[in-house]
Amino acid sequence: MIVAHRRLGKTVCVINHAIMKALTDKSGSGRYGYIAPYRSQAKSIAWDYVKHFTAGVPGRNVNETELTVDFPNGARIRLFGADNPDAMRGLYFDGVILDEVADMKPEVWGEIIRPALSDRNGWACFIGTPKGQNLFHELYEYGLSHNSWCSVIYRADETGIIPAQELEEAIAVMSANQYRQEFLCDFSASEDNVLITIDMVSDAAKKGLTEADIRGAVRVMGVDVARFGDDRSVICRREGLWCHDMRIVENADNMTFAGIVAREIDEFKPDGVFIDAGRGEGVIDRLRQLGYSVLEINFGSSASESARYANKRSEMWDKVREWIKSGGAIPNNPELKSELASPTYKFDAGGRLVLEPKEKLKERGLRSPDLADALALTFAYPIRGTRGGQSVRRIMNDDMSKYFGL
Ligand SMILES: Nc1ncnc2c1ncn2[C@@H]1O[C@H](COP(=O)(O)OP(=O)(O)OP(=O)(O)O)[C@@H](O)[C@H]1O
Ligand SMILES: [Mg+2]
Repeated sequence: MIVAHRRLGKTVCVINHAIMKALTDKSGSGRYGYIAPYRSQAKSIAWDYVKHFTAGVPGRNVNETELTVDFPNGARIRLFGADNPDAMRGLYFDGVILDEVADMKPEVWGEIIRPALSDRNGWACFIGTPKGQNLFHELYEYGLSHNSWCSVIYRADETGIIPAQELEEAIAVMSANQYRQEFLCDFSASEDNVLITIDMVSDAAKKGLTEADIRGAVRVMGVDVARFGDDRSVICRREGLWCHDMRIVENADNMTFAGIVAREIDEFKPDGVFIDAGRGEGVIDRLRQLGYSVLEINFGSSASESARYANKRSEMWDKVREWIKSGGAIPNNPELKSELASPTYKFDAGGRLVLEPKEKLKERGLRSPDLADALALTFAYPIRGTRGGQSVRRIMNDDMSKYFGL
């Protein structure tokens, strides 16, 4: 997992890595893939490099239409575009390179490429320049904490590959954010108006809270039910300043999922349960039949503070921001962290805060923020605590304290 600045030589490096692996392959049928965000891009940039660097290999065979190079030992390198993932279905890989990962649709890795590595125990190499909080950032964080992965980062001020003079000239014409992103590899630099910055999120994931910090605090559960075309439902337990690790449920029908939520409620004994009404109606009805008291929340409905927020979703997310600022702690979960730090905000004609809609996040190649929405749901309405809550030794403003049950 290589994060590197622009013009480091990333594409040349990974192409040569693939060539070296192919040339030394002993299986007689080695398959190596190079994947760029678009096939046209793979062809215009990497294809020339592949031909150039293999030109000296005796007996190598180039196929211009398939974008493949075959080697005498039976190994093959083939170029793909992530814009046409179906071309990769049904193939296997001994090794695969994903160049400019930040521009790829996030599902391509999990749905298509990762499974194709399984039968040959293949490797994957990710390389690119940061572009905000997306799959690339998540994989970088994942790699930092998992032994079979390696994550490295190369910044232009450290590598010395781009001459100092040239860097100074780049600084002069680029915005500070552009420079931080393209040359200093700063994942948090791309969007100027994110609601919750990655710095806030990182701090929130490092809070070492103890039981004493949340003793007696209100317990709230937020449930984000899978929407069409997305099969993950998420259950979030928040206890005052503490957001516990989230429960993700995949491919469950409404009845099964309602049963799971019911068990979670029995165990956690929340003071309030908020469920996303968008796709959650079946789940809500079922839970009520079973005698559970739950509240449905419509993300698009008007906010409680309708003069400040354009809709309920914007309001809930801003409460998450305030909560983090007041000391809220989140689990160190890379997905949750990047989801929280993704949406931008603006103000509408009436001066009300509007959070970036999910469709816009999708257009930017980001996935639906299911985990972060589940946390946001725990701020749908203030909840009156039943546990006393007085032992929570935190100072916070009156406005926020009602969300903590103090
Ligand atoms: N090891 C190397 N030695 C000398 N020159 C190199 C080396 N690797 C790459 N180059 C040259 O550096 C330039 C940039 O290489 P490359 O396209 O691989 O960079 P990149 O990091 O992928 O750039 P971008 O960020 O624009 O995608 C090219 O002109 C390439 O020929
Ligand atoms: Mg490149």
